[in-house]
Amino acid sequence: SAPVRQALFGDLLDFTADPGWAAPADALPAVRWRPDHWLLIEDGRIVAAQPQAPGDDWQRHDHAGRLILPGFIDTHVHSPQLDVIASYGTELLDWLERYTFPAERRYADPAVAHAGAQTFLDALLAHGTTSAVVFPTVHAVSADALLAGAHARGMRLIAGKVLMDRHCPDGLRDDVASADADSRTLIERWHGTGRLSYAMTVRFAPTSTPEQLAMAGRWMAEVPGLYMQTHVAENRTEVAWVAQLFPEARSYLDVYHRAGLLNGRAVLAHGIWLDDTDRALLADTGAQIAHSPSSNLFLGSGLFGWQALEAAGAHVSMASDVGGGTSLSMQRTLADAYKIQALQGVRLTAFKALHAATRGGAEALGLAHEIGSFDAGCSADLCVWDWSHGAVARHRDALAQDLHERLFAWLVLGDERNLRATWVAGQPRHQRD
Ligand code: GUN
Ligand code: ZN
Repeated sequence: SAPVRQALFGDLLDFTADPGWAAPADALPAVRWRPDHWLLIEDGRIVAAQPQAPGDDWQRHDHAGRLILPGFIDTHVHSPQLDVIASYGTELLDWLERYTFPAERRYADPAVAHAGAQTFLDALLAHGTTSAVVFPTVHAVSADALLAGAHARGMRLIAGKVLMDRHCPDGLRDDVASADADSRTLIERWHGTGRLSYAMTVRFAPTSTPEQLAMAGRWMAEVPGLYMQTHVAENRTEVAWVAQLFPEARSYLDVYHRAGLLNGRAVLAHGIWLDDTDRALLADTGAQIAHSPSSNLFLGSGLFGWQALEAAGAHVSMASDVGGGTSLSMQRTLADAYKIQALQGVRLTAFKALHAATRGGAEALGLAHEIGSFDAGCSADLCVWDWSHGAVARHRDALAQDLHERLFAWLVLGDERNLRATWVAGQPRHQRD
């Protein structure tokens, strides 16, 4: 049958490399800026970008004067925590006990798990996020519902049932045998199905026994392409607790290393309270830190040392960490990242920030051949954005003198209200008129 050919016109922006910490003008070689271009998509994949209009056998979508970016990649987010987003007054361990654990218990109910997954996935798309690394709950049904929902939407999702067999309430605790059996079923059903990958999902070291960590490590050694996701070194009280629970480990990060859980597909959220040896271990193993700025500010966890991690050779990707984070919007997330760096005397450009939420995230996940840019062959996962929303942003946009100034104002003032359309694998999945 004839290929499905679609062409989108607008201001195309993506990245060919990491712009690094250079000033905006010096970062331009990594920036691919193609205003008033056509992006050509065939059978769900990007084939080219060009200034001239394609022929009549292409279905055309005119977004003149709008910004077209690769879909955002959120490398750490909790689907059930939309139920507790914006909860008042606590740091990590209290927040888990008071708000998060009670909310997650409800996901034992298949109806709650199913409805929650649809709400969450549609919300991702309505914020311009087309790929994500996601925690559902400990209940196998919550992982099933989430992965099935992503599959139905054609999304590049990485997720797995949460592993937690101690230090958590009844109704939210598994055990090694049942977690092992559930993992087997879910891996067979979902790992490599469509665009999905399975992730061994250790909640964090305090809620897994050493036996459960070892079980997760066995799966990582056995199944090619399996991901691992967890939390590390988020909060000082948490770090002290891990030191008590695992006296044999050199550090919090070392707990995961000893269990065989660190490799190039390991995604660890936060990584605020690390030392040089930890940073070197991340670099050696290829594991990445999912920087979660909104959450770090909201839960009062600390200021992330982005430059030190990268100087050591470790990968950093961007994450909302909803519901510790307070928005699924990657613009808001990146604006918070800018402010966290500003507090440490470091300037994050809009180029570096947007790279981290697109190609940078893809590279850290080993998926740059599929997502994160407009390279030919990539999946047509993209978003169409208004350059401004509301009178203040419109006013500011009109005054911007160059690309970086315009983009930075868009990033700091913008959010999901700027979004016009989200496409996944060449299909429109979210539209606003
Ligand atoms: N550490 C363990 N569980 C969680 C969680 O749900 N959110 C965050 N931010 N940190 C965690
Ligand atoms: Zn988290």
